[in-house]
Amino acid sequence: MARTVIEPFRIKSVEPIRWTTRQEREDLLRAAHFNLFLLPAEDVLIDLLTDSGTGAMSTKQWAAIMEGDESYAGSKSYDHFRDSIQDIFGYRHVIPAHQGRAAERILFGVMCKKGDVVPNNTHFDTTRANVEFVGAEAVDLVIAEGKQPSLVHPFKGNMDVAALENLIQKVGRERIPLVMLTVTNNSGGGQPVSMENVRQVSEICQRHRIPLYFDACRFAENAYFIKLREPGFGSKSPKQIAQEMFRYGDGCTMSAKKDGMANIGGFLCTNNDLLAQQEKNLLILTEGYPTYGGLAGRDLEAIAVGIQEALHEDYLQYRIASTAYLGNHISENGVPIVQPPGGHAVYIDARAFLPHIPPDQFPGVALANELYLEGGIRSVEIGTLMFGAAARMDLVRLAIPRRVYTQSHIDYVVETILEVFKKRDQIQGLHLAYEAPFLRHFTARLEPMAHAAVNHR
Ligand SMILES: Cc1ncc(COP(=O)(O)O)c(C=O)c1O
Repeated sequence: MARTVIEPFRIKSVEPIRWTTRQEREDLLRAAHFNLFLLPAEDVLIDLLTDSGTGAMSTKQWAAIMEGDESYAGSKSYDHFRDSIQDIFGYRHVIPAHQGRAAERILFGVMCKKGDVVPNNTHFDTTRANVEFVGAEAVDLVIAEGKQPSLVHPFKGNMDVAALENLIQKVGRERIPLVMLTVTNNSGGGQPVSMENVRQVSEICQRHRIPLYFDACRFAENAYFIKLREPGFGSKSPKQIAQEMFRYGDGCTMSAKKDGMANIGGFLCTNNDLLAQQEKNLLILTEGYPTYGGLAGRDLEAIAVGIQEALHEDYLQYRIASTAYLGNHISENGVPIVQPPGGHAVYIDARAFLPHIPPDQFPGVALANELYLEGGIRSVEIGTLMFGAAARMDLVRLAIPRRVYTQSHIDYVVETILEVFKKRDQIQGLHLAYEAPFLRHFTARLEPMAHAAVNHR
């Protein structure tokens, strides 16, 4: 009989979490303008807003932090950082940045101009915003299967290679400064990209002399999915798989707050010497000297250790199993989710959960708010509030911080979701009262369609 997959660590330091009453949560939600981003975190019981920067560090990472070399230039912590990253990613230049979007801003600032087009399987919100900020167009080319939430497919993050070819024919290769692949595909449900797809995309890029970059935030989880699901990879280690994948590309952006297992940090890699020089010049202007890039030496040390730990097989086995545990338990009870469960998160299909709420009344926000009211759980909408009318789906993402919550926390989350599912007919939509010109979901203020609805339940 298969044994229970257990957390492959024991807990050495604990952080209390705080209960609130339903009445308190109703008042808190109203004060937060019905936007969970605007809630004080201490009023959240289980925080599944994001897996970004919210993980627990290991004893080895904390020990490495004490070795941080805070020299402005030539810090040995940078050498540890670069060597550890090169060991996995293999790229010639490793440029630290304070987080993923800083790497994106520098990459697109250097490589793109107005009128350019950047294809990706699915751009993450900050990636899209940074492409558009320089006047380029961000085009999502995920395969058709990746757009159907209930469909089971092993690699729903794959790029549609025929669509990529068509796009290149249509706009011309000179308007496409780079192609990106997001592994795993966060906005498309945390779904992986297969090695076969990476190879095909890489072949097209080489044929048209277009560089291929990875948005590598969750590269370790993607590597483990390849090991589990793609023929020929079962006996390879996640590290070997990651190394092979990165060989097909020319560089990457990375938020080390995900599979870097750190609370802050990121980097940009490239094999192109000229670009690296331009990127470093921009880095010095806005982030910091190229041996720290806006990070402390101790952060570089934490990432150097964490990025290797993310590839440990017992960790990845537990990580993928615990996300699937949440997804499968709610799905078995009828809750519509993006199938199969992703690597870092489970995505509830809010349009199917709340068919009576039209997309322009933000079904994802309505559901996320209800999960908070019911059980103090914070999640995030990925849908019409985040992407406007361009949103193809309205999802609620339950992102699992790395090494933070135990199985009983997850059982509590399952119970809460099932409670809300029973009462789904009573949930109402919302309308916008304020929106910022870009990335509006972070600061938006909303109001329930029927204003008194929250009070009267
Ligand atoms: C796929 C993807 N790309 C880029 C980013 C941006 O990283 P950061 O939040 O560190 O700026 C994220 C963050 O969630 C992400 O999931």
